This record gives sequence, structure tokens and C-alpha cells, in this order.
Amino acid sequence: MRLDIITVLPDLLASPMQHSIVSRAQKKGVVEIFIHDLRQFGIGNYRKVDDYGFGGDAGMVLMVEPLYNMVTTLQQERSYDEVIYLAPDGELFDQPMANQLSCLQNIILLCGHYKGIDHRIREHVVTKEISIGNYVLSGGELAAAVVTDAIVRLLPGAISDETSALSDSFQDGLLAPPVYSRPAEFNGWRVPDVLLSGNPKLIKTWQDEQALERTKMLRPDLLDS
Ligand code: ADE
Repeated sequence: MRLDIITVLPDLLASPMQHSIVSRAQKKGVVEIFIHDLRQFGIGNYRKVDDYGFGGDAGMVLMVEPLYNMVTTLQQERSYDEVIYLAPDGELFDQPMANQLSCLQNIILLCGHYKGIDHRIREHVVTKEISIGNYVLSGGELAAAVVTDAIVRLLPGAISDETSALSDSFQDGLLAPPVYSRPAEFNGWRVPDVLLSGNPKLIKTWQDEQALERTKMLRPDLLDS
């Protein structure tokens, strides 16, 4: 998979791509991630990328031209399955959407900033709009990092134990069961006996029960859907 992320704040995105699973996946060649500074396509000597919005509303808008030129330059080099704009009024991101996106080859993630991007880009260039939650961030960068992380960990080879991403919370519509590590007893707090039993069938049954119980207790809404 190849991800091209377009932003006016490339430094804000650099760090999340340089740690943990996302970093290892890049080193293993599972994913290529490119962060593009929109200012490369800024206008004039000052490389201007934003301007006042028409209509008198306070706040700056990312301009149509730099965005269009940046995206079409990438599109001339390869075809993209989706051009995704991160926005609070997009479709709510969830695990099924992450699963779907992880099956694609080439994706552009477009980060807005200030008041947003010129709406003509949303109408004519963007193919999908994603929100990571019902709140407003200062820009799309943190949302792009969230979407990238959720997708990349699903790619074959990103996680050494291939089954581990499948047992994540939400993968089967349930929260994940609790996990424990050594020592088996600390401060008088014991790990459930069943996990020490060495019986895979009993352990699986316990984990399934726990997943269901925790979902009923903490996120009953997941069971409705
Ligand atoms: N940009 C600003 N707020 C956002 C959100 N909640 N999700 C995605 N992108 C955003």
C-alpha cells in the first residue's frame, strides 16, 4: 500500500509515522508513506496556500489551486483508489471502514486546516470524507495519523503475529477480553486461574465470555448493531 498525506504542517505528522507498528511496517516494505508539504505548490514568492473566505466569515481557507495542483501531480504518477479529506462532517471512521481501506493500493489523505478547504476541491477532487469523531480538531493531521495507524496495522506483515490484529477490540463487533502478563500474582492480585490452565479450549471460551460481558457492560450500543 502507498499513502500520500497532504498537509500544511508536515512536522506534526512526522512523529506518528516514526514509531511502533507504522514505522516497522514501512521498514518491512509493507507500506510506503509520503508526507507532502502543500507549500510546495503555494502561490507566489511567499508560497501562499490560504486566503480569506468569500462571504465575510472570519478565518482562512486552504486555496483551491495549490490543493488541485498537488493532488493532480500525484495522480499523474499513479492512479489512486481514494482521495480522502479528513473533516469533522465526514463519515464516521470505524473498524469496518479501516478494514475496507486496508484492502486498497494507493490512497491520498488530505488534511484541512484553519476554516477548511475550498469547497470546490470537496466537490470535484475528493472521493471520500472521513471524520474520526464528533468533535472539531484544529486540522486534519491528527485525524490522518489515526486513520493511517488503524489501516497500517491491518496490512499483512505489519504485525508479526498475524492473528493479533484480528483479535483487536471491534474486529468481531465486540470489545477485546482483558489481557495479563507475568507475574501470575502481584500484590495479592491474581491472574484468572483459567489463563494459567494451559487448556486452549477453556481459555477461548473464557475470552469469548469476557468479550461479550465487557461489551454488554461498557458498550451495549455495539450489540444493537
Ligand atoms: N478535522 C477537524 N476535525 C476533524 C475530525 N473530527 N475528524 C477528522 N478531521 C477533522
